[in-house]
Amino acid sequence: MSDRAPSLDLGVLVSGRGSNLQAILDAIADGSLDATVRLVISNKPGAQALERAEKAGVATRTLPHRGFESREAFDAALVEALREAGVEWVVLAGFMRLLTPTFLGAFGGRILNIHPSLLPAFPGAHAHRDALDYGVKVTGCTVHLVDEGVDTGPIVAQRAIAVRDDDDEQRLAARLLHEEHALLVEVLRWIAADRLTVEPGSDGRRPRGITRPV
Ligand code: GRF
Repeated sequence: MSDRAPSLDLGVLVSGRGSNLQAILDAIADGSLDATVRLVISNKPGAQALERAEKAGVATRTLPHRGFESREAFDAALVEALREAGVEWVVLAGFMRLLTPTFLGAFGGRILNIHPSLLPAFPGAHAHRDALDYGVKVTGCTVHLVDEGVDTGPIVAQRAIAVRDDDDEQRLAARLLHEEHALLVEVLRWIAADRLTVEPGSDGRRPRGITRPV
């Protein structure tokens, strides 16, 4: 019998382009990430991310949130689909919906989000614009565990980049996206290797992700 840990079973929630999903699929395909994407769910019909998944032979579902009578009902459908697919960890890769306790209770502590700022700066849907408007000279991206707030969960990892004087939203977002892809895959490697733990907050500290050395 092999003593190798079983590969990580992922579900990825998307709403749009899916370049972070693609980074995960590419890392799996080239053997640098020991994981399987069991299911990709989009709340937006026709999202480019769905095509990327199909091209990689990954199962997809489209669950338009507007078809549900409440946020909880939508989340319950997500949970059911992910459980049926055997998903262990959930990645929010450009998923533009807030999750309710229905979802958090089912996958609590095993949901990752990638956000294009150095949290706690610039949470929300306009991180690049907000960073440029504020005039920061350094920004970056954050992978964090998801809680009930908007981009507030325990931080697992961050990468920083310099903001250039001639940056606009598009240029900044494009440069940052490279870092997002690398960071998200790196964190998933830690999880696949069972190296990520969450240190509970105490003495006024917030909980945070801790990576055990190899
Ligand atoms: C990324 O910038 C991610 O940080 C944010 O939404 C964007 C999704 O891009 N949460 P993509 O769909 O992965 O290309």
